[in-house]
Amino acid sequence: MKKKYKTVGIIAAMQIEIDGIREKLQDPTVETISGIQYVRGHLHGKTVIAAKCGVGKVFAAVCTQTMILRYAPDCIINTGVAGGLADNLQVMDLVIASHVVQHDMDTSGLGDPVGLLSGIDIIQIPCDGEIVSALERSAQLLARPHMLGVIASGDTFVGTKQQRLRIREQFHAAACEMEGGAVGHVCYLSQIPFGVLRSISDGADDASGMAFPAFAAKAAQTAVAVIHQMLELL
Ligand code: ADE
Repeated sequence: MKKKYKTVGIIAAMQIEIDGIREKLQDPTVETISGIQYVRGHLHGKTVIAAKCGVGKVFAAVCTQTMILRYAPDCIINTGVAGGLADNLQVMDLVIASHVVQHDMDTSGLGDPVGLLSGIDIIQIPCDGEIVSALERSAQLLARPHMLGVIASGDTFVGTKQQRLRIREQFHAAACEMEGGAVGHVCYLSQIPFGVLRSISDGADDASGMAFPAFAAKAAQTAVAVIHQMLELL
């Protein structure tokens, strides 16, 4: 297969989710734009731009748009940790997004379905098929339990059973986090292929406030390992 993704952008919300990529970049150069650091370097035969965007959809959107305009990546991957929604997901299992949704986008008062992205008039944004395949293959090669599913994003840390059930049922989502939907939305607007990989840090339930700080760093490392493998395949 001819490698068409030569320049790859990687975005994560937190330092623990991107450090394992950032520190491996060869010949790194750093630029700060609107308070976000972009580290550009070489890794696994590609040019990689790694950025820690910060938590939530606005930071993720600002970072994604800036990355597109400044570095013209061939694709963008959002990685990090997530709350598990699908049955039987364990901490450190991986969810690879087939689609992303924004669970807190709501113009239902105007008669729209919850989650509709007004203007582009879709709820689910599809991830790039080649990126999805490369992520699945990478998880297989590293023997990491993984599943493909919808990832739901919103500006909320999901920490109650009630929130969990709503997002799971309304969007048939496998995992929830706070950035992937915004990265996907911005990529969709500029037709940049994108993918989202998340490692489960908690169950997005009443125990999440304890589970997240205990498991996030370890879970983040699992996703980082898969990203390294994916860069070799992609
Ligand atoms: N990222 C990791 N766990 C999460 C949760 N429970 N809610 C939102 N984002 C998360």
